[in-house]
Amino acid sequence: MVHPLSRIMVDFKQMKDFIEDPFIIDRAHDIYIYDDQGKEYIDGIAGVFVASVGHTNTSVLESIVDQMQRLTFAPPLASANQPAVHLAERICELTPSNFNLVKFASGGSEAIENALKMALQYHKQTGHPEKYKIIATYGSYHGGTMGALSASGIAGRRATFEPLMGNFIHVHPPNYNHCPLALDSAQCSISCVMQFEEAIRREGPNTVAAVIVEPVMNVEGLIWPPSSYFQALRKICDKYNVLLIYDEVITGFGRTGTLFFAEQAGAWPDMLCVGKGVSGGYIPLGATIINDKVAAAFWGDTEDGVQYNGGHTFGGNPIACTAGLAVLDYFRNHRIMEHVAQVGPYLGAKLTALKEQFPSIIDVRGLGMWWGIEFPQDNTTGQMTNDIGRRIERAARKRGLVLRGAPTMVSFGPPLIITKEQIDEMVSRLALAIGDVLT
Ligand SMILES: Cc1ncc(COP(=O)(O)O)c(C=O)c1O
Repeated sequence: MVHPLSRIMVDFKQMKDFIEDPFIIDRAHDIYIYDDQGKEYIDGIAGVFVASVGHTNTSVLESIVDQMQRLTFAPPLASANQPAVHLAERICELTPSNFNLVKFASGGSEAIENALKMALQYHKQTGHPEKYKIIATYGSYHGGTMGALSASGIAGRRATFEPLMGNFIHVHPPNYNHCPLALDSAQCSISCVMQFEEAIRREGPNTVAAVIVEPVMNVEGLIWPPSSYFQALRKICDKYNVLLIYDEVITGFGRTGTLFFAEQAGAWPDMLCVGKGVSGGYIPLGATIINDKVAAAFWGDTEDGVQYNGGHTFGGNPIACTAGLAVLDYFRNHRIMEHVAQVGPYLGAKLTALKEQFPSIIDVRGLGMWWGIEFPQDNTTGQMTNDIGRRIERAARKRGLVLRGAPTMVSFGPPLIITKEQIDEMVSRLALAIGDVLT
């Protein structure tokens, strides 16, 4: 008999193993998830950095139901809809005054695809049709579609589908924690940002269309360079007429303590891509937020044919945009960013305190409501550390906590609404899980 779970595919997972230890989520509320056996878990990663205002948030649900009774679908090929227009307006109000255009999509990858395609079309329409190369960093993840994956720099995710697309070049990420030259944070980021200039010069500035970066790198290990990196990158891009794209699919909408990480970076991009938290996970949504310089290239008479040549059926869906509006209302009405400013450092302090109990922890770092714990790669401390992050992830699930495990790290990005008491409970479940693995 065919096992019902073998009819689906969980991302990046071998279903044969998954069937042995399935995790089927039945319902969720606030920061809690319940599986099909009724077991409760703390959602320490907000889905995957998605459920910013928690699960089944009543005010978001009410707005969605209201919208569903009015209009559930409007074809983006032929029309606009009120929630999309209002959400674009709200997003533009939240970004600097030279951002006045939003292209909606159905998720992060599509938002990235739109940015990459717009960069190519922008140069074609501004007299530089030969600019087509994109420079990105190793260690970045920009999504699973072919363009976004080609921009991504993670060998393990790319290899199966290589050669992928040919016009992507990768430079070293500013990972000062594992700098091959053992440079400190400031020097490492200067040396890495110079690689962009070097790559542009060597490829030929007349061939390079855009640079894309994940301003806080996730898979690379929760790494963010100082603002001098972004300021220098902005200057380099301007010098060579190269567009700068930020992938804020994780960082956008409050995760790092400001609504957009660009506010902390000290330099804004030409296009900023968002997904995940933009609709709080209620309905799939993504967006590319575009500055006036880029937008101008797409504005003209019909006979000029300069309109953006792309789109997706569910981009800017009215229910999804209603969810986006409701999430922003919730942020405003409940002062979510003030809450993150108080509770985020508390989470950081609680995780840092675990170093006393578990001396093999080599670093605890994070910002806003996104924190990670790093363990050593080798066995130097005498404690078994091989693939420790993934083993802690499995142990945590048994202890009623969902987190994100990587070979040497575990990360937390709980719903932004999490309280200090809930953090206490989350960290005590984590301590038990680490203890299960290390002792
Ligand atoms: C930084 C980043 N960019 C883009 C994406 C792609 O988003 P999606 O999975 O919604 O297509 C992801 C997904 O994890 C991501 O983490």
